[in-house]
Amino acid sequence: MSKPQIYVERTLAVIKPDAVHHADEIEDVITRSGFSVLQKRKVQLTPEQSSEFYAEHFGKMFFPSLITYMSSGPVVALVLAKDQAISSWRELIGPTNSLIAKQTHPDCLRAKYGTDDQQNALHGSDSFTTAEKEIRFFFPDSIVEPIPIGEAAKS
Ligand code: TYD
Ligand code: MG
Repeated sequence: MSKPQIYVERTLAVIKPDAVHHADEIEDVITRSGFSVLQKRKVQLTPEQSSEFYAEHFGKMFFPSLITYMSSGPVVALVLAKDQAISSWRELIGPTNSLIAKQTHPDCLRAKYGTDDQQNALHGSDSFTTAEKEIRFFFPDSIVEPIPIGEAAKS
């Protein structure tokens, strides 16, 4: 008989170029917060790849400088798994603007590692649809298998 399996929610986290030198520290917070790191990849995005990743913001005032920033050095992409991973990771990174985050959520990761409304150190997918799309962007060969957890993993 096959083992019972259960899907655990996944999200895509990106440690942006300005925070990559803190990657070990950030990964420590990630695992201590109950996330499993399923996949990890350090990669330098070309401006074209950065534009594709942030395509929803094409045409906005900040788009050109966002692309320059995202292509300015390597990023670390991680697939995180946890119950309610998407909202849980968004909560841990905090508000988009690190300047506001420092005022309102001083313990969040964007407050600790980011600088302003652009250099905000971390990315998190904002929905199931974007999580799936963004995981495939960084890990095109990934096969989404169910993860056996807890008692369900035992026959
Ligand atoms: P957005 O999707 O609004 O925020 P989030 O990353 O929290 O989902 O914006 C994407 C990125 O664009 C954001 O992380 C930083 C950059 N950005 C700017 O540079 N200026 C801005 O005014 C905004 C709103 C975002
Ligand atoms: Mg967004």
